[in-house]
Amino acid sequence: MSELLEKAREYEKETAGKIPDHSRPAFHFSNPVGWMNDPNGFSEYRGEHHLFYQYYPYATQWNSMHWGHAKSRDFIKWEYLPAALAPDCAYDSFGVFSGSAIEDGEQQVLIYTGVEEKVLENGEKSIRQNQCIAVGDGLNYRKLEQNPVVSADMLPEGSSREDFRDPKMWKEDGRYYMVAGSRSGDGSGQIALFYADTLEAWKFAGILDRSENKCGKMWECPDFFPLADRQILLISPQEMEAEGLEFHNGNNTAFLIGSYEKSHERNEFRFCREKIQSVDCGLDFYAPQTMLTADGRRIMIGWMQSWDNPMYPDSQPWSGMMTIPRELSLRNGRVCQRPVRELDAYRRNQVSYRDVCLEKEMSLEGIEGRCTDLELRLKGGSCGKDRIKLASDSRLYSEIVYDREEQVLTFDRTHSGLKKDTISTRSMKAGSKNGVLSLRILIDRYSVEIFANDGEQVMTSLIYTPFTAAQISFAGNGKTYLDVTKYDIAAG
Ligand code: FRU
Repeated sequence: MSELLEKAREYEKETAGKIPDHSRPAFHFSNPVGWMNDPNGFSEYRGEHHLFYQYYPYATQWNSMHWGHAKSRDFIKWEYLPAALAPDCAYDSFGVFSGSAIEDGEQQVLIYTGVEEKVLENGEKSIRQNQCIAVGDGLNYRKLEQNPVVSADMLPEGSSREDFRDPKMWKEDGRYYMVAGSRSGDGSGQIALFYADTLEAWKFAGILDRSENKCGKMWECPDFFPLADRQILLISPQEMEAEGLEFHNGNNTAFLIGSYEKSHERNEFRFCREKIQSVDCGLDFYAPQTMLTADGRRIMIGWMQSWDNPMYPDSQPWSGMMTIPRELSLRNGRVCQRPVRELDAYRRNQVSYRDVCLEKEMSLEGIEGRCTDLELRLKGGSCGKDRIKLASDSRLYSEIVYDREEQVLTFDRTHSGLKKDTISTRSMKAGSKNGVLSLRILIDRYSVEIFANDGEQVMTSLIYTPFTAAQISFAGNGKTYLDVTKYDIAAG
């Protein structure tokens, strides 16, 4: 093991155990110590779910990237494992960037982006990003001698050599495949497909899709998978411009929904994009990645944070959380998301009400909490606004407002106790069905995830409100009736 990796493992061992569990989210993954961003290597291995992540153990700001590691049997309770990779080779000395993992026979194969700074002939320094592989047993990994196994030279002419990253690998009919993000000659994103018969010998297959400067610049963290009868290309575009309520400025995430045909004989690999859908309209969501469970579910997890508005208290010795893992399905041409069903096993203390008329602000006995799973049906007409305040006390709150006329749902954390002028509200279209809007809201100590219309629209946002602010209240214009069920989540 390299000195760098040993040092990271020692440091985690010494420090992480000292952070009390009750200061962490109750049912969302957080890193043991230091900084975390993207989920990596989200996959099954030897019957367990593995999650790796972009990691810098020694400070709560992004720095020289390692891979942290954890595993779980149910996606809710995670066991920390020692850091998996450190930037300890010349070709990844600037960072072990995002990537993925597969189970391959007895071994677990990790593929990641090795970042290196090169000094060019003219003396200038330039970044190189290439794809590298490490194999292991679920705990310890050996980087291949042939690394990097895929370099930017293999991309079409004009493609960037500096931005080429985040390989997502899978195995199909005995072959390895991977997609990776890059920039084409026009400076905007493209997703390249590669395949291989052995882990060391990769071939460029084609470009699956490109931004053409219409959908942001660099496309990061691609994933490519079938869902029902469609093929999904999942991307995290940078530098997008807002488009109505569907996208916002800056870093976004998108499902490109289409069809895919491949023929090795004809050397054709064609993704045909039919639609684009925002993945999550909240304030804090990026770089999602999916895995396939043994029982055939496509599960997605995302980084619950934003590059543009990083939110975390300075005093906290860790600074990263993942979303609740979500089951993906396709309904009426939309990709829908539901919290993994494993969460249901942690539900306790059910309290339900039916047909409560919402007028001036009211709370309901037993409907409160900060580690809470709420199911709501708001039944009303086509005018007025319904309001839900949560994580509140006499001073602080976050609010969900449903505008029935506009059919727009807004999350607002302006009064959640922010100390900085951070962006605090975001809205999304959410149609009611015959006047009924159904919501599932997961409230954890630092986050609110809203699933509207059984996961047709989703919003994920962080809040840093003291845990004692646990009240929930409702208000309407006298014409909305509420059904509500609350469960405490007994995980943390
Ligand atoms: C996305 C990202 C990836 C990169 C990683 C570096 O959040 O920028 O493209 O691999 O973070 O930490």
